[in-house]
This record gives sequence, C-alpha cells and structure tokens, in this order.
Amino acid sequence: MKTQVAIVGAGPAGLMLGHLLHNAGIDTVIVENKSRKYIEERVRAGVLEQGTVNAMIDSGVGDRLLKEGLQHDYIDLRFNGEPHRLNIKELSRGRSVWVYAQHEIVKDLVAARVGYDEPLYFEASDVSIHDIDTDKPSVRFIHEDKEQLIDCDFVAGCDGFHGISRGMIPEAELRVYDRQYPFAWLGVLADTPPASQDVIYAYHERGFALQSMRGPDISRLYVQCPVADTVEGWPDERFWREFHARLEISDGWHQQEGPIFQKGITGMRSFVCEPMQYGRLLLAGDSAHIVPPTGAKGLNMAIGDVQIMTRALTSYYQEGKRDFLDKYSDTCLKRVWQVQRFASMLCYNLHRFPEHNQFEHKMQLAELNNIAHSRQAMRAFAQSYTGLPVELFYDLE
Ligand code: APR
Ligand code: PHB
Repeated sequence: MKTQVAIVGAGPAGLMLGHLLHNAGIDTVIVENKSRKYIEERVRAGVLEQGTVNAMIDSGVGDRLLKEGLQHDYIDLRFNGEPHRLNIKELSRGRSVWVYAQHEIVKDLVAARVGYDEPLYFEASDVSIHDIDTDKPSVRFIHEDKEQLIDCDFVAGCDGFHGISRGMIPEAELRVYDRQYPFAWLGVLADTPPASQDVIYAYHERGFALQSMRGPDISRLYVQCPVADTVEGWPDERFWREFHARLEISDGWHQQEGPIFQKGITGMRSFVCEPMQYGRLLLAGDSAHIVPPTGAKGLNMAIGDVQIMTRALTSYYQEGKRDFLDKYSDTCLKRVWQVQRFASMLCYNLHRFPEHNQFEHKMQLAELNNIAHSRQAMRAFAQSYTGLPVELFYDLE
C-alpha cells in the first residue's frame, strides 16, 4: 500500500497525529502492535493542559471531553503541614487544566479514526522501518499472518519509549540525556469521591503524595515508594495509612476510604533524545522523551510535538516549503526542554531523596515557599502548569 505518512504506534501521539493530518487532507496509515482493547484500557495520567484541550476541541474530538472532563482552576500545594491553594487560571491569565484520563482520549481518537475509515492496523507484528535516509522510506509488518508493506513519504515514530523508531537514527547522530530517580509512585484507583475538588501535591517528611480524580466518584491517588517495591508489598491498609499520614494536615481535610480496584507502580525518569528527526523519520512523544509524572506533562508534550509536526507537514504538502519541516526537531526540543525543566523542578522539590540531608530538605521548602508566596514565582509556575503554548517556540514565521 501507499500513503503520505506512515505512523508507527497508536498511543496519544500517533492517534492525534493521524487525526490532525486527516483534517489537513494528508493520508496516513497507523500501525500498532497491541490490540484496540489494550490501548483503550491502559491506565495512565489524566491532566490535560489548556493547549491540549483546545487542540481536541478545535480538531473536532472534544465533545466527550467537554461533557465528562473536569475543569480545574486551582491546585493545592501542601507542605510543612499547610495547604496553599493557587488560582492557576487567574495566575495564567485564563488558562485551566482539565482532568480527563488518557485512555479516554485514546478511545475518542480511535472512534474518530474508525468513523472516517482510514487505515489503522492493530496487533501488527514484526514492524520494521526502512530507507529513512532516502526519499522513499517504507514500513513493513505482519498483520493477520500476511506481510504488509507501506511505501510512504515520511515515517512518524510515535511508538513510545520502548518502540523501534528512535533506534533507526544512527548511533553517531544520536545524543541521549537521561536521569533516573531513586523512587517510584504507587498509584491506585479507589471507589470513593475525592475529598477535595483540587488536585493536591503534597511534600511530606514521609514522602510525596498526590490526590487526583477520575470523575466525581473515583479517586486517583499516589504515594512515593522505593523503586524496588512491589504491589504485593502494599496491601490496601498500608496504602491508606501512608496516604492519610502524608496528606491530612492542620485544616482537618480527610479522605474517605473506599475499595481500591486498580494498583500499580510507576518508575520515574527524565529522558530526551536529540535530534527528533533524521532523514524522513520524525519522532514524537515518548519515543523521543520521557518526563517524571509530577505535573502530568507526558501526554501534553506528545500533543505539542504532533501539532508542530502537523504544521511542518502541512506547509510541506500544501505550500511546497521545507523550512518548518527542517526545523521540526529544533522547534520541538525548545519546548521539550522547558517542560523537562518544569517537571524535574517539581519532581525534585516534592520528593524525599534517600541521599538528602537537612540542608536539601530546607532548600526544597524554600523553593516551595517561593512558589506559594511570591507572585512572580506563582505566575511562572501557573504558566508552565497550564502549559506553554506551542506558538511560543517557533522562530520562523
Ligand atoms: N510497532 C508498532 N507499535 C508499537 C511498537 C512497534 N514496534 N512499539 C510500541 N508500539 C506502540 C505501543 O503499543 C503504544 O500503543 O506505540 C504506542 C506508543 O504509545 P505511548 O506509549 O502511549 O506513547 P505516546 O503516544 O508518545 O504518548 C505519550 O503516553 O506514556 C504516556 O506518559 C506518556 O502520557 C504520555 C503519553
Ligand atoms: C493523575 O490524575 O493521574 C495525575 C495528576 C497529576 C499529576 C500526575 C498524575 O501530576
């Protein structure tokens, strides 16, 4: 088969790219190695920046998000036994964040794609990418026991951190920046209404804790735990004990317990590869970068990348211009590093590090106090938390 852009991976990056390119009249084929059910049920983070919400609405896939998503104008930062409620909407001059689970976005995008009947192959095996350093790249895979070949103009590598596309860039051209953290998050879904409507980030001497939600009756809760911990080592009683100890402070706030129906441990990492393009291969999302989950930026970065890629490809196909395309990696990376800066700042200041002493503890509190009390720091925080608009990163017009 022939197409303009072959997209490897049907996570939020690949699906949104396929959707935006469809709207721009550019043909795509998406190849995913897991099943539809698997990708539609994969539990991940759930905070959308204003720019991500706007991209969903403006591109015609925001109906359910508008109905079921929860708009948040405040967040709560807790430390030293005190809550600090920040009005992020006012501080960012009108931008909010929305709580809407990532797998719901995946469902909305798959439904749109199936609706306009463009090729999307699930359960593809032996996916391989060829000839990206020529004008005629291709993607091969096996689907329902048949070998398939896609001849295309470009390959979009949207296959996540463990995918194959980043590895297609010759080693001599690729630079990798990586940091792993000495802790993880234990995350649960509990059948009980969240005690607060706000997302709460807590720094506590026992470690970080986070209260979020998946609708008015389901709580999404996390506590920091050692990297080597397993879910078996965290029976429900232990989870609740830690959660109460880290979040319940002087204001009498109390989270009602409820049955826990999902539990998982997520490692934490910061990772960037440069460049994000090589020949006719363009990377987007987790295939090129990972952020620690503090701030829930992973999905939002992926959506930013594919917006930038859509503009690059639209200008190439519709105006015959290569300048946005040639600058794709540079434009993305400027934004990626700013988001990395924010996510690692939050990660650093909200967690207990095993190797830290009292000096570092005091520095973390000083940083958090600055965010909670300096108007200027608060504004900068709110601007990054609600998302840096993609348009800020173009130096071409
Ligand atoms: N061939 C085809 N598909 C593949 C291959 C392969 N060789 N390898 C991986 N995939 C698929 C995965 O099964 C997955 O569905 O690529 C998809 C990548 O999706 P994500 O991992 O969700 O990555 P991305 O779309 O970049 O989304 C970024 O997801 O990981 C979270 O926190 C991250 O929220 C962020 C968002
Ligand atoms: C979530 O709801 O899963 C969530 C919220 C905020 C974060 C990370 C995850 O920073």
